[in-house]
Amino acid sequence: TIFKNPKEASLHVAHRIANLIKEKQKKNENAVLGLATGATPIAVYAELVRLHKEEGLSFKNVVTFNLDEYYPMQPNAAQSYVTFMNDHLFNHIDIDKNNIHVPDGTLALDDIQAYCLAYENKIENFGGLDIQILGIGRTGHIGFNEPGSAPNSGTRLVTLDDLTRRDAARDFGGKSNVPTKAITMGIGTIFKAREIVLMAWNKKKAPIIKKAVEGEISSDVPATYLQLSDSVEFILDEDAACLL
Ligand code: GLP
Repeated sequence: TIFKNPKEASLHVAHRIANLIKEKQKKNENAVLGLATGATPIAVYAELVRLHKEEGLSFKNVVTFNLDEYYPMQPNAAQSYVTFMNDHLFNHIDIDKNNIHVPDGTLALDDIQAYCLAYENKIENFGGLDIQILGIGRTGHIGFNEPGSAPNSGTRLVTLDDLTRRDAARDFGGKSNVPTKAITMGIGTIFKAREIVLMAWNKKKAPIIKKAVEGEISSDVPATYLQLSDSVEFILDEDAACLL
């Protein structure tokens, strides 16, 4: 679906999430959201905060699982995805802090595998993700599933692509400060979500969107795996869609 600009597209996604939350409230059920970081979803979160503050949308029945976190990473560091989510969403809504899950960037290496399995199990124990929102990196990564990721991959420790680290350099004051690794939900984890929404705006994303939507399905561009799912919608602005 192509919107005129990022603002209209973001409002659409925010209202879709808000409707899901309200539908679940009526049934006394949790809404289980898979959330993403990066610049792309910021306006979605801003609208959800507005709906909470101005229209009384409650997040008391909301459970969240974030896609990824740098490794190693302290949660209170300025660049952590915990800080990002707190700043843009969690600190401004009435979500129960126990319902928030972001991969832990402080684990000992030996503990990561068991932790990742437990992260998957937790998602399942909450009944699975109702919706997973995604951005896309210029390598074609979703979450931090870089080129080479398998379609059935689970939550795991991964090595970041050089382009991904260059794109993150500004946030970290230079590429050498960007962690070389991350913990990410896998492609298989993302695929289990009942709805998947990939968002992309601006001309900078047009080449990778063309590959993701029209290119050959290949591990070279992990986002192409999304072509295999019936539950996926690409939400684009005109600029990101301009090469389609
Ligand atoms: C990071 C995140 C991804 C995100 C990507 C794009 O690598 N791990 O989940 O999709 O950045 O970021 P942006 O939205 O800032 O373009």
